[in-house]
Amino acid sequence: MKDLRTSYMGLELKNPIIAGSCGLTGTLDGIVSMEKHGAGAVVLKSLFEEEILLEEKEQIKELEKNPLIYSGLSETLDYLDLHIREENLEKFLQLIIDAKKTVSIPIIGSINCISTIDWVHFTKKMEEAGADALELNIFLNPADFKSKEFEKAYFQIIEKVMATVKIPVSLKISKYFTRLGLSVKALSETGISGLVMFNRFYAPDIDIEKMELSAPQVFSTPVEQHETLRWIAILSERVNVNIAASTGIHTGEDVVKMLLAGATAIQVVSTLYKNGPAQINKMLTKLDDWMSDKGFNSVEQFRGKISRMYGADPAAFERMQFMKHFSEIR
Ligand SMILES: Cc1cc2nc3c(=O)[nH]c(=O)nc-3n(C[C@H](O)[C@H](O)[C@H](O)COP(=O)(O)O)c2cc1C
Repeated sequence: MKDLRTSYMGLELKNPIIAGSCGLTGTLDGIVSMEKHGAGAVVLKSLFEEEILLEEKEQIKELEKNPLIYSGLSETLDYLDLHIREENLEKFLQLIIDAKKTVSIPIIGSINCISTIDWVHFTKKMEEAGADALELNIFLNPADFKSKEFEKAYFQIIEKVMATVKIPVSLKISKYFTRLGLSVKALSETGISGLVMFNRFYAPDIDIEKMELSAPQVFSTPVEQHETLRWIAILSERVNVNIAASTGIHTGEDVVKMLLAGATAIQVVSTLYKNGPAQINKMLTKLDDWMSDKGFNSVEQFRGKISRMYGADPAAFERMQFMKHFSEIR
């Protein structure tokens, strides 16, 4: 094997492939399997801020039905609030502790959040449990027509988290920003160490026979990787943080492309569901073979080669439409 090591957010990874946040990384067995099949690191299944709040609401609703227990006293609610949150968190923390004892690859904790209300202190506990880094998946609904300044919330959340933990923090973002390039650049200057580009949303579809929404596409297809590739190529030379590529990366060839575009690490999820965790090993073998063919001994020798090549004239990646190509098709 060639030297596949990469340094992502200051973490030494034996190779750039990270098992991204999903159900497969939500149990100790899953994490062990990822390491066994070659993953360079694991991002744990997210602790969802919404999930905690919903669960809490459900339990409070149940208790509201019992007037003996629930008397409407705010103190009772305060206690329950804390108790339920803590219990959920305990399970999550235990997974970090167990994973750190069992595997040697870095463990990246993940929080899926939408606000700064009351959860940020969890990040300290994750750090204390041994998480090597923290990935923030901030999702503010771009279809929210009411909040005018929603992008501000990203900065507020990052500021609070950065003031709470010392471990490296990455931000997993969507493509839905006003002027994506500028927004990402500004976010990269907040003190975070990494950007995960991009989060993927369920792709809606309509069943025209039943005239209703059909089951969403839970897994990505390779076609979806091109936006990731475009933006990594545009931004990798312009931001001072590491970029992890995410969405639509299914094969070893895709890994090579993302590295050439300037990604430091590659997160994979759908391909692990579709092909099993052994896919990680296959991707690594392809990367290794390609490096041998091209005469590269380490990832650093070619990482970002393509984005640098187009650095002075990034039009090839910035062009959004097909003018030239369309005009050539008769
Ligand atoms: C079943 C499933 C569960 C997921 N759970 C999470 C999660 O808990 N937190 C998160 O940030 N992303 C989650 N994701 C999104 C993935 O981490 C990833 O961003 C997305 O699937 C795109 O990558 P891919 O094309 O390699 O699948 C999930 C994806 C899938 C398919």
